[in-house]
Amino acid sequence: MLSSWYSTILAAALLCSSSTPIHAVPLSGGDIEPRQTTSKYCASSGVCYLQIVPNSASNPTFRISIPDTASSGSAFDTVLQITAPVALGWAGFAWGGGMTLNPLTVAWPNGNTGKVTVSSRWSSGRTLPGQYSGATYKTLSSSRNTTHWSIEVACTGCSKWSGGALSTTSINTFAWAVSRTAVSQPASTGSSFSIHSNVGMFSSDLSSAKTPASVFQQYVKTATG
Ligand code: HEM
Ligand SMILES: *[C@@H]1O[C@H](CO)[C@@H](O)[C@H](O)[C@H]1NC(C)=O
Repeated sequence: MLSSWYSTILAAALLCSSSTPIHAVPLSGGDIEPRQTTSKYCASSGVCYLQIVPNSASNPTFRISIPDTASSGSAFDTVLQITAPVALGWAGFAWGGGMTLNPLTVAWPNGNTGKVTVSSRWSSGRTLPGQYSGATYKTLSSSRNTTHWSIEVACTGCSKWSGGALSTTSINTFAWAVSRTAVSQPASTGSSFSIHSNVGMFSSDLSSAKTPASVFQQYVKTATG
């Protein structure tokens, strides 16, 4: 009994110390994001988020929230917050865990206006994603200072798409991408931009992201952008 317990622990320790990060995607030229750690964050607004804090300060923090009434496979609004170091020209979030065939939320600072532009994208290949009308956004807040730019959006259409949907009960895989190069037309949601310098993936259920539906809806409704 003791020895089987011990070998289970040993096997788990060996798996955990594997030198190949499970959720990092090696790309040439990027500073590779190692193992991603998720946690729960609740703001004073009462909104709670599943958050991914980067292991490297050169990558963004992503937070997502959903109403606690949401059910798997159905359409519900989601909230996404991206806080990125100013050195990043754009940051994107992939709701289905990869570059292709899922809603992409891409954001970039709008020059020196202090505002951040959000753009709805979709890609069927690994080239510049086109604009995607299946998801629409309300900007809840955005800002830029000397160290970071930040945006929080509510998305209608990011929980369900052609070929996929979020699960509110089991594990989802998400992905993100960032570039150090500024986009070509920062004020335009249709701007082109260049390929990422880093990408990452992580898997989690959405239990940490659940916010009482009334709080969630009120938060989205009253935000002034
Ligand atoms: C001009 C824009 C873009 C180009 C040319 C591009 C191109 C590529 C290429 C060639 C790969 C494969 C790299 C490799 O395997 O070495 C890749 C992977 C990836 N890209 Fe992009 N990408 C662009 C924008 C985006 C955006 C906006 C996102 C997310 C919002 C994104 C997310 C990802 C992710 C997560 C991966 C790794 C997983 C996967 O291959 O699906 N990309 N991209
Ligand atoms: C700059 O913005 C970031 C992200 O919103 C924030 O965490 C940080 O406190 C701000 N810094 C200053 C000096 O205001």
